[in-house]
Amino acid sequence: MLMAPARAVSGAIRLPGDKSISHRYAMLGAIAEGTTRLQNYSTGRDCASTLACMRALGAEIKAGDDGSVEIKGRGPVLSHAGAALDCGNSGSTIRMLSGILAGQQFTSELTGDESLSRRPMARIIKPLTAMGATITAGEGDRPPLRITGRRLKALDYETPVASAQVKTCVLFAGLFADGETRVTEPVTTRDHGELALSAFGAEIKRNGKSTSIRGGQGLRAIEATVPGDISSAAFFVCAAALFPGSHLRVSGLLMNPTRARLLDVMIQLGAQISVESLEEHHGELVGTVKVAGGNLKGAAIAGAETAALIDEIPVLAAIAPYTSQGIEIRDARELRVKESDRIATIAANLRAMGAEVEEREDGLSIPGGQSLHGAMVDSHGDHRIAMAFAIAALRAQGETEIKGADAAAVSYPSFFSTLENIVQR
Ligand code: S3P
Repeated sequence: MLMAPARAVSGAIRLPGDKSISHRYAMLGAIAEGTTRLQNYSTGRDCASTLACMRALGAEIKAGDDGSVEIKGRGPVLSHAGAALDCGNSGSTIRMLSGILAGQQFTSELTGDESLSRRPMARIIKPLTAMGATITAGEGDRPPLRITGRRLKALDYETPVASAQVKTCVLFAGLFADGETRVTEPVTTRDHGELALSAFGAEIKRNGKSTSIRGGQGLRAIEATVPGDISSAAFFVCAAALFPGSHLRVSGLLMNPTRARLLDVMIQLGAQISVESLEEHHGELVGTVKVAGGNLKGAAIAGAETAALIDEIPVLAAIAPYTSQGIEIRDARELRVKESDRIATIAANLRAMGAEVEEREDGLSIPGGQSLHGAMVDSHGDHRIAMAFAIAALRAQGETEIKGADAAAVSYPSFFSTLENIVQR
């Protein structure tokens, strides 16, 4: 994919449904009573992997081309898949579904592509094993996973990693446990699992960084429109912010406070951001965001803020050289075990475009005031890296070739066509 520089990024868009929420609604819909009807389900390949897994586990699912999905719930008892469950590239699918499979009275095998097969699973194996499931994994606790489920024991679990996938996995398993399961996280991560469980009728108790769920609660189907994916919108928000004179409007966008930290960073950098028409649907805030571009200053991202921005760091890093003071990212070791080693892939691509960047074990320091040139960059099969460097290319001198740009389809198949619609050259 060849990307040419732009003059501005303006227009009005709506995003396909949020990936995190789509996964959770699909999984819970399959174990609820009744038929769940979803609109604006994520168009990404990852969420299609979740639907395929839930189908293989016996849920009847109809998915239209328009983002509509109908899931006939089976109640809490799924059926044996008969073959390995292919989670594709999706860490969310393998980790959160494992929580449900740990409570089923059969053995399941979960596999994934080459990237997923390198990702750490000890973080879910540990709590699920403590709850009574039997799990074997590949070398280094990596996929494939073999999970033999059973009626589980409740667990009071303090997770060492800041991961919403782990938290959601344990809460899902808690539905199948005797007693009350509690999970405590080191910093607050996205709370879509908690909100989705409540939407499907489960009683959840939240107290600071701890969340509890009582086992044996039945779920009821929901009807919902999935809010637009803010992590996908982040690419366009950053693109518009880069060019003084740009005006972008994104409607129907997820505004959950555990996900919308990007907007605070953009304000801090100097972009003009306004939010209107806020509404709440199934506990999730949805609104319209307007962005006006400006001269961007600098920012330092660390600690709890890094966890809240984990999916947006690639694009923030990609625009960092164009800010006046640069962007510093710390406490981001988790980026090394995403779909690619994102610290390494961001640094390599920025350097290919002529940027100066300091790579550290847990982050990046990217000075501002730099001019980049078009180059050959590589997605390394990572959707967010492909999209982040499409945005970096907009302000570079000359054209940028993105190798493996089709990886964008993992979360956002129409990314490049939407970008072309709002880019002025
Ligand atoms: C997600 C949580 C994050 C994020 C991923 C989606 C979720 O992963 O990077 O894209 O839906 O819970 P971790 O839980 O591994 O931080």
